[in-house]
Amino acid sequence: MKRKLLGVLLSAAMAASLLAGCGSGGDAAATTTDGAADAATEAPAQTEDEAEPAEDAAVETPADTASTGGKIGISMPTQSLERWNRDGAYLDEQFKAAGFETILTFSDNDSGRQVNDIQNMLADEVDLLIVAAIDGEALNTAMNEAADAGVPVISYDRLILNDAVSYYVSFDNYTVGKLQGEFIEKELDLANAGDKVYNLEITAGDPADNNAGYFYNGAVDVLKPYIDAGTLNIVSGQMDFDTVATAQWNTDTALERAQNVLSSYYADGTQLDVWLCSNDSTALGVAQAITSDYAGSNSVLITGQDGDEANLKNIVDGVQTMTVYKNVSNESIVTLGLAKAMLSGETIDESLIPSFGIECAFDTESYETSAGNKCPSFLLVPNVITKDNLQDLVDTGLYTMGDDGYLSANQ
Ligand code: BGC
Repeated sequence: MKRKLLGVLLSAAMAASLLAGCGSGGDAAATTTDGAADAATEAPAQTEDEAEPAEDAAVETPADTASTGGKIGISMPTQSLERWNRDGAYLDEQFKAAGFETILTFSDNDSGRQVNDIQNMLADEVDLLIVAAIDGEALNTAMNEAADAGVPVISYDRLILNDAVSYYVSFDNYTVGKLQGEFIEKELDLANAGDKVYNLEITAGDPADNNAGYFYNGAVDVLKPYIDAGTLNIVSGQMDFDTVATAQWNTDTALERAQNVLSSYYADGTQLDVWLCSNDSTALGVAQAITSDYAGSNSVLITGQDGDEANLKNIVDGVQTMTVYKNVSNESIVTLGLAKAMLSGETIDESLIPSFGIECAFDTESYETSAGNKCPSFLLVPNVITKDNLQDLVDTGLYTMGDDGYLSANQ
């Protein structure tokens, strides 16, 4: 219904602009290989832990307000990683408040299920899709169907490698890693270290997540000169991305690898100085391993990303040193502004940014959905949080500090 309504409301030119963006839209998308087709047909029924929230969340606004907006499909990867619960909730709330109907799903970190979830949204005649991909290369079936149905796609936070994507909204992912690397450089005063050698280990993110390489490269580009000079020494020798990656950003996987590294290379009393972790879910596992399995008594510098509650507690307790905070409420506000502009046929470029009221950059160079197909992107600005500026999080209005000094997220 909404699809037809939208078709009447929009001129052909407007509809074309909806699908503009990364590459040539439907045609290119239709020719991409389909790695997810089998998985899609075999996708299991919703598991109990996620079926309920997804169904609960798939509530739609009353028809009278919805008719002024349209229907938005919001596909989030999982509820098992803290931030996506927040992203899903903010997106859902903000789109509803703006008069849209929404369908919100979480796909339990199962790409086949995410394909199914998106297919269901298309069958429900959504007008626009917002997708945070579990695996950026495994959504071709759903993306090609979206292109065929003329449904524009905003790739949310993680880039989908398919030209059906119209626009990308994320943080500056390379800068996230760069901030982690620069933090280590500054804390250890590496530039003036002289003959001093610091021992470093690295834990990176999920290879299926297009962001993970950006985080890793951003940090390693800062640290590599010190590694080459011997100021930073990776005792395990484990440095290349695939070796230090963590499937699905899983805390237990990060914990197990950290335990193995500690027992293999540090059990003899070798001092560990710093563990570069790409995000908070992996930092949580590494911190647990250090607490339980590290023989030394020094405090190890641990980096992170997101501002998950358990990690903020670890920062207060001195167990984790920093996190790179990304305000996902702002990310959803930018996404809403972009979606509204797309659906009303406005020109999409940096001139939209003032209307978002959020600091971000319009970047047409950094991201490609396929070789040569640049994806216009709105990239927000990440910030470093340590125990010294936790109040900045409280000042966002999104966290409350308890009497014990620990922060809890309001969402
Ligand atoms: C996000 C990070 C998050 C990670 C695991 C990435 O794509 O950008 O904020 O920590 O996924 O959820």
